[in-house]
Amino acid sequence: MRCSGPLAGSVSIPGAKNSVLKLMATTILCDGEFELTNVPAIADVWIMGELLAAIGVDMNWTGPDRLRLVNNGNITPDAPYELVEKIRASINVLGPLLSRCGRVKLSMPGGDDFGARPIDMHVAGLEKMGASFTFEHGYLEARADRLRGAHIAFEFPSVGATENLVTAAVLADGVTTIQNAAREPEIIDLCEFLVSMGAHIDGIGTGKLTITGVDRGSLSAVQHQTVPDRIQAATYVASCAVAGGSLDLVGARGEHMQMLLHRFGDMGMVIDQYESGVRIDAPTRLRSIDVATLPYPGIATDYKPLIITMLSVADGVGIVTENLYPGRFRYVEELQRLGADVSTSGHHAVIRGVERLSGAPVKAHDIRAGAAMVVAGLAAAGETKISGIHHIDRGYDDIVGRLSSVGADIERC
Ligand code: EPU
Repeated sequence: MRCSGPLAGSVSIPGAKNSVLKLMATTILCDGEFELTNVPAIADVWIMGELLAAIGVDMNWTGPDRLRLVNNGNITPDAPYELVEKIRASINVLGPLLSRCGRVKLSMPGGDDFGARPIDMHVAGLEKMGASFTFEHGYLEARADRLRGAHIAFEFPSVGATENLVTAAVLADGVTTIQNAAREPEIIDLCEFLVSMGAHIDGIGTGKLTITGVDRGSLSAVQHQTVPDRIQAATYVASCAVAGGSLDLVGARGEHMQMLLHRFGDMGMVIDQYESGVRIDAPTRLRSIDVATLPYPGIATDYKPLIITMLSVADGVGIVTENLYPGRFRYVEELQRLGADVSTSGHHAVIRGVERLSGAPVKAHDIRAGAAMVVAGLAAAGETKISGIHHIDRGYDDIVGRLSSVGADIERC
């Protein structure tokens, strides 16, 4: 990848990884043939497909962005280590398996390169609904003859815990309320999917979800279109921001990125939201801003590596504060290799913008850090070679094809 730009043209935004994986896990709940559309062609979808096949739901692609999932009712509530450890979203089979089968044995999900990923809130919520847990030999085992409705109040709006408790509550006996539930667009997508299957959920999109349990017989398999990926969309905004030019992000939902787009505006980007997408124009040079990550509708932690990369070449000094994963700064060393002036202290990063980065070999440590390396490569003079790109493939649907089609000098080797 050599110094690129300006970019021009349009990029179609695929469906969201962090939604489709949860939609897939939810097909455990009821028998029948599901169809998911706007599915991103990413490695994590294949891994979730393998995990579901081991549990008893068969997946196949029926088009470039279309999946059929068939649940024949033969569900095994055991999720093996080799598959669970590959993706964090495998924890999302916990709620559906427990409520459907009354028992689940699941390898404990590991941490990530950016730190520990505990599941205490998932466990505490399910215990309130009547489940009992044991943890032995790297596996968790949960049992509940029938989960019952409960009032659950989160100290923090965890995405995964909200998803697991909602999917568990759908078949529980009685009413479950979740206070301080996560409100991400991907949670709304999951709730809408469940409602179309026959679930009763009130308060969708708010911090209080009320789920009234139904019998399994009232649920049915459905077709559903996955919500567009706001993080992939932001990656193309960041690419254009550092390479210059203008892009149409076709299918991007500006309303899911309000806070981020507002802050990009503060950096000098011109943003026009229209019904079926977002158009962006880059300034000659970005202005620095200060940013703190927060749960939705705040600035997502997954945007942060992109923002730090943009600030690396902006005019001025920016401070970025990470409030979700304190250890999520490993890619900073890679940016420094490209000539970025970034220092970190605790959960803060101070970024002094330089005119240009300079190409060098760098590593992708995780999905979002890998995407940031791609953006950094666009901002760097000379060639940037990124290793570890299997991380990028986990969450990005043809980033190389999409960027090269709008003028970026990027290839996969
Ligand atoms: N947390 C706990 N206990 C819990 C659950 C969460 O302490 O029981 C803490 C976590 O350790 C973390 C914070 O709460 O510090 C956020 O965790 P959350 O449960 O909200 O996140 P998640 O469900 O594990 C999803 C995405 C992440 C994204 C976060 C935050 C998926 C598969 N993952 O993770 O996405 O960063 O929400 O928005 O949906 C990515 O896509 O690359 C990615 C890491």
